[in-house]
Amino acid sequence: MREEQRPVIRIAPSILASDFSALGQECRAMEQAGADMLHVDVMDGHFVPNLTLGPGVVRCIRPHVRLPLDVHLMLTSPERYAAAFVQAGADTVTYHVEAETDAAALLRDLHALGVRAGLVLRPATPAEAVFPLLAEADVVMVMTVEPGFGGQKFMPAMLPKIAAIRAEAQRIGRPALDIEVDGGIDLSTVEDVVRAGANLLVAGSALFGA
Ligand code: DX5
Ligand code: ZN
Repeated sequence: MREEQRPVIRIAPSILASDFSALGQECRAMEQAGADMLHVDVMDGHFVPNLTLGPGVVRCIRPHVRLPLDVHLMLTSPERYAAAFVQAGADTVTYHVEAETDAAALLRDLHALGVRAGLVLRPATPAEAVFPLLAEADVVMVMTVEPGFGGQKFMPAMLPKIAAIRAEAQRIGRPALDIEVDGGIDLSTVEDVVRAGANLLVAGSALFGA
């Protein structure tokens, strides 16, 4: 990749690892520490075996920071809730290609609502699953752990998937596509994911634990 085509590297702390009883304060602390956006994990207890938060919590966070909110929907039916998260203040909404929804239609709907939209892949899902939508998506997120919980160990087997998506983005003339990674990102894994082609780095326990 030529240097001028490489997208800027940005850090998105995941509030999943924060103290939910002091969420506003935790978000402001991440903004002051230099975060580029805040990553908000939404789980429905069905698509993943855990529950987190809904649009009401996003609405509560919104006035505390100027940072963009990157909302990661781990939902079986993301199309049912996506607009509510946009109304609550989401700037980017990502959802899983494995969800039971028309992924292309949801990308269009989110763009019509004026936000960035992207697709997420579970570890078992191959890179090729997002290739047909790569021209439309603003971001593709590669899960580097099984979604559902923070604090898990990074899966190095995901590195070729990141590289394959970056190569395909180059091939179709979208060198600046955001490739996001989520799960187990810390000082010991950041270099590998960036070298593979990721530029948007989610980190929960590595940042909020520190
Ligand atoms: C997991 C979530 C992640 C999680 C990452 O399902 O999507 O965003 O918060 O946490 P760490 O960085 O601790 O692996
Ligand atoms: Zn996430």
